[in-house]
Amino acid sequence: MDAEPDAPRQPTAEAEPRPLILDVDTGIDDMIALLIAATSPELNLRGVTCVAGNVEIHHVARNTGKILRMVGRGDVPVSIGAARPLQRRLRTAPDTHGPTGTGYVELRGEDRQLGTTEYTAIPASRYLGAHVNRHPGEMSVVALGPLTNLAAATQSGVDLAGRTRDVVWMGGTLEERGNTTETGEWNACVDPEAAETCLRAGSIHRLFPLDATQDVVFTMEDLRELPDTHLAGIVRDAVRFYVGFHQQADGIDGAYLHDPVVLIGSLLRPDLVTESVTETLACDTSSDPYLAGSLYRSEGDDRPSISVATEIDADGMRAELIARLARAVGAPNS
Ligand code: BDR
Ligand code: CA
Repeated sequence: MDAEPDAPRQPTAEAEPRPLILDVDTGIDDMIALLIAATSPELNLRGVTCVAGNVEIHHVARNTGKILRMVGRGDVPVSIGAARPLQRRLRTAPDTHGPTGTGYVELRGEDRQLGTTEYTAIPASRYLGAHVNRHPGEMSVVALGPLTNLAAATQSGVDLAGRTRDVVWMGGTLEERGNTTETGEWNACVDPEAAETCLRAGSIHRLFPLDATQDVVFTMEDLRELPDTHLAGIVRDAVRFYVGFHQQADGIDGAYLHDPVVLIGSLLRPDLVTESVTETLACDTSSDPYLAGSLYRSEGDDRPSISVATEIDADGMRAELIARLARAVGAPNS
């Protein structure tokens, strides 16, 4: 029999669950972040905003709603956000995430037993604005895809930096080779203008680039620790596709689970971030496809600097993520 994964660290008794909005382009690793966000007792998942990126927006919205319902969280409102980047043509990543975003699995079809999701008619940028303005200083926003929704909110006057508790983004790379161009990471490359809008306005407090998220490799062996449920089977089939991609693209026998690593490293176990630096960053928005989406250190510019995570405790993160995922896929509905 497989060993039981370690239990996730328990929140302190008096801590109130932290209100959170996740912005996702679901996506295999987004799916795992959603499962953890929806089932971690330390978090109060108030809403999810969808953005086109890994797959088109209708796949993102459908995957997101279905994943939430599979863990009994049909109560979480889902806002269908930007269908394309601010200025550029949308590019998607079927080779990385499969044709509909969940690898070998397709989350199609309705299952009435799972209940329904409230797909809010409010656009994601207004949804974000309404939440942060109603609860000044309280909300955390964790963005796990291209920054189109956050940039649209910024452009329409939402003070993300000033009205939230924190805004975190998985994006970009500093020293690590890019995963989309030589120096560009996917979320930044899909919508460079959005990344630059947010960096210039100071809408992001904390950045997790590839330098941090690629410190941890997850293998199929790690997933053997999940309980034997229907949902665990879905996660395994999705991650198997992701591992296949990483084997070809990066020559590793496993996968980087960028998005849940960021969720855990920012909100749940910040102690697992072992090194951070402060940087003043900009995003290249030139028309050259080899340069657009690359982050660079900006000088002579009065933009705010941000905290950048650059190193993660790999063993600690692996154990924490697997334990939380095991709890999510072992829940009664799954
Ligand atoms: C990021 O790009 C997407 O493919 C993943 O979901 C993650 O957010 C990694 O570069
Ligand atoms: Ca993502």
